[in-house]
Amino acid sequence: MCGIVGFCSNRETELNATEILIDCLSKLEYRGYDSAGIALINKNDLEIRKAKGRLSNLENLIEKSPVEGHLGIGHTRWATHGEPSDINSHPHTDVSNDIAVVHNGIIENHAKLREWLEKHNVVFRSETDTECVAHLIDFHYNGDLLLAVTEALKRLEGSYALAVVCKSDPESIVVAKKDCPLIIGRADDFNLIASDVTPLLEYTREVQYLEDNQVAKITCDNVEIFDEDNILRDVEISHVDWDMQSAQKNGFEHFMLKEICEQPYALEQTYKARVYGGKLDLGEMSEFVKEAKKVVIVGCGTAYHAGVVAKYAIEHYARIPVEVDVASEFRYRDPIINSDDLCIVISQSGETADTLQAMRIFKTKGAKIIAITNVVGSTVSREADYVMYTQAGPEIAVASTKAFTTQLMCVYLLTCALIKDEEKSIELMNELKDIPQKAQTIVDRQEEIQRFASNQFNKSKVFYFGRQSDFAISLESALKLKEINYTHSEAFAAGELKHGPIALVDENTLVVASCCNSKLYDKMDSNMKEVKARGAKVLAITFEKNDAFNSVADEIIPIPNTEAFLSPILSVIVTQLYAYYCSINRGNDPDHPRNLAKSVTVE
Ligand code: F6R
Repeated sequence: MCGIVGFCSNRETELNATEILIDCLSKLEYRGYDSAGIALINKNDLEIRKAKGRLSNLENLIEKSPVEGHLGIGHTRWATHGEPSDINSHPHTDVSNDIAVVHNGIIENHAKLREWLEKHNVVFRSETDTECVAHLIDFHYNGDLLLAVTEALKRLEGSYALAVVCKSDPESIVVAKKDCPLIIGRADDFNLIASDVTPLLEYTREVQYLEDNQVAKITCDNVEIFDEDNILRDVEISHVDWDMQSAQKNGFEHFMLKEICEQPYALEQTYKARVYGGKLDLGEMSEFVKEAKKVVIVGCGTAYHAGVVAKYAIEHYARIPVEVDVASEFRYRDPIINSDDLCIVISQSGETADTLQAMRIFKTKGAKIIAITNVVGSTVSREADYVMYTQAGPEIAVASTKAFTTQLMCVYLLTCALIKDEEKSIELMNELKDIPQKAQTIVDRQEEIQRFASNQFNKSKVFYFGRQSDFAISLESALKLKEINYTHSEAFAAGELKHGPIALVDENTLVVASCCNSKLYDKMDSNMKEVKARGAKVLAITFEKNDAFNSVADEIIPIPNTEAFLSPILSVIVTQLYAYYCSINRGNDPDHPRNLAKSVTVE
């Protein structure tokens, strides 16, 4: 939610700070696109450009009213406090426009601070929570920006990644972080900051991860990081070896399609990262995993759905009870966690606010945590006891695809480790080995799925149903369609249909039936007949050569044979492609769905 960037070079630089800030923002637009803005120190002046809407609006504004400088900060917004508008766009400034601030997060006590500042004659311009930060810093400013920010932070409640520049301190950017990510990029003649690693890769691969409650002063040739007691900290510089290419569209029309098509490769990489010479290697976590008596999984959205798929698989193969919950519910339900429970946190970004809080609850219960995440150096990866990285590479499209299937690969590999019978575990691992190539056969069928979508994209209701892990994957399939096609889509356990949802079914309904468990084919056949009798069209997703649904389904999209409990990793690729092509048919931008941002760092 919201992306912040900063760039700091010296006055003799040939580099164009405006261009660099805009370039970095373009890679963070997935975090929000309600507005964008930059603040630059130009000679000894502070200049701001900001505009409602996509980054291109800001670029148009800068074309008409150019701005340059050697140092600056930028922001792309996902609105929380105050509607998307020019005035609510960041950067926000103090009364005399000397100090500019960009912010990701929520200042929870902003109303009280606003009241207090208004009593001190501050006149607010925007409705945002962020503006009070600019005024507070000004209140504490006495010639030392770092000190002013440190003092202001003491009065803030909530979450923040902040970058601050000041006209009277024209050679530095001060940044601070609590519960929102902030990464510093170290280059030879300049330094940068950003909300995630991707924008930095163009300029450097050497990064420092700011910790919560740290504050840093960044100049063109130095970075000083202080902890909350104002003690200078030596923070390790990490090397990022992500491939820059993977953050580009590479000829695809959208990141989402590119990322769907990358799944076979990403799945292979994720498998290979843990299986060598046919042997599963979970490193340090192996012993702990083997001892598990109960598994508890949390995540949000798509990551939660990976947890639901995991529950079915782990309980079926390893016969260990699994509890799975959405992180935002888990954290408020006074959960019962024992110190020997195996706790799994799933998060693509590793920065989702609710997931982080749920993870911290695991910690307070003394439990050990395995994080499944895509982002090296993310908060989740740093706070968990063990990490399994999904080898998906940067996922840029807001709607998650390759992160999800690689999360599934990780949970299936963990399932192999949890199975007590070695032979069975090896069998499952061998089955997993073939998944990437099977995924490729679905990607290769995309024209067929595209054709189906172009006939069915304007159905007013789309219901996804299935039983067992087919139900689990229906949840994710329905979410994908909601996100990028804005269609009312729901997932139901097929057996639940008669208990209410069938009242919604009419001739304007498409039902997507996932049917990959042969023991339940008969039941699914009946359920399909029930919805067809009410006028619905039925698309069945089932294994190739299965003719059980030929007479009932209007359309069948086959997937390669595999174990029933592994089928979600394949069937979801069909529904991802279906959602993508529906969205294209509607004229939507699947990479930038309305009202959404990729990284949800607020509650
Ligand atoms: C849906 C989607 C979201 C995320 C959720 C959690 O396509 O991307 O539902 O899965 O916001 O995000 P992470 O995995 O970053 O914790």
